[in-house]
Amino acid sequence: MFIWKRILLVLLTSFVRQFCETHFAGLTHVVRKTIFIGVYRRMNKEDIRLVHDISTEDYNALRDSVDFILLKEERAKRALENSLYKVFLEYEGKKIGMARVVGDGGYVYFICDVIVHPDYQSQGLGRMIIENVLEWLRSQLEEEGDTIMVNLMSAYGKEEFYGKLGFSRRPFGNHGAGMSQWLKLD
Ligand SMILES: CC(C)(COP(=O)(O)OP(=O)(O)OC[C@H]1O[C@@H](n2cnc3c(N)ncnc32)[C@H](O)[C@@H]1OP(=O)(O)O)[C@@H](O)C(=O)NCCC(=O)NCCS
Repeated sequence: MFIWKRILLVLLTSFVRQFCETHFAGLTHVVRKTIFIGVYRRMNKEDIRLVHDISTEDYNALRDSVDFILLKEERAKRALENSLYKVFLEYEGKKIGMARVVGDGGYVYFICDVIVHPDYQSQGLGRMIIENVLEWLRSQLEEEGDTIMVNLMSAYGKEEFYGKLGFSRRPFGNHGAGMSQWLKLD
């Protein structure tokens, strides 16, 4: 009897969590921020270093921490090498956050791989990363009136995070929805 109660409880908890993540992503975030992170995982932000290099192993470890697909060594290496800009947060010798910019280096820029390790989320690090990336992007503008287009594909439920950092949620005006497709050789 006891074991069934436990199984039922685990299933119920997991269902409620999944339901909240899907339907109240913003709310879940706020609850996490105020209750969990706020109490247990305070960190000293002065000890964070912004660096621009990472090994493919650490890159994949960061991806893994937020359930992004893992990249084959050679593909990860090429992705990092061909990025226009990349920034990583290092704390206590560990990479705990990152973002990359890819693009044509002229007009179109795309921000990707925005990651903060789950142990360090909800403490302003995502904002720190995007602000650093935007600063680099602004440094690409050469004269008054110069314009570049900065794109990204928000993960589900993270739109508000990017909204706070100046991004508009598509579709709006005559801008359609962002679209994507994954190609895989089977
Ligand atoms: C998205 C992500 C990078 C945000 O990083 P973070 O360090 O937790 O975010 P921050 O603490 O810097 O949040 C900055 C602001 O956005 C808000 N915010 C962050 N995530 C949010 C969410 N899911 N919903 C609503 N608001 C959110 C914060 O409350 C904060 O607001 P404030 O400045 O008014 O206090 C992080 O959650 C993450 O790595 N997620 C998993 C990977 C992922 O989905 N990446 C995005 C790929 S497109």
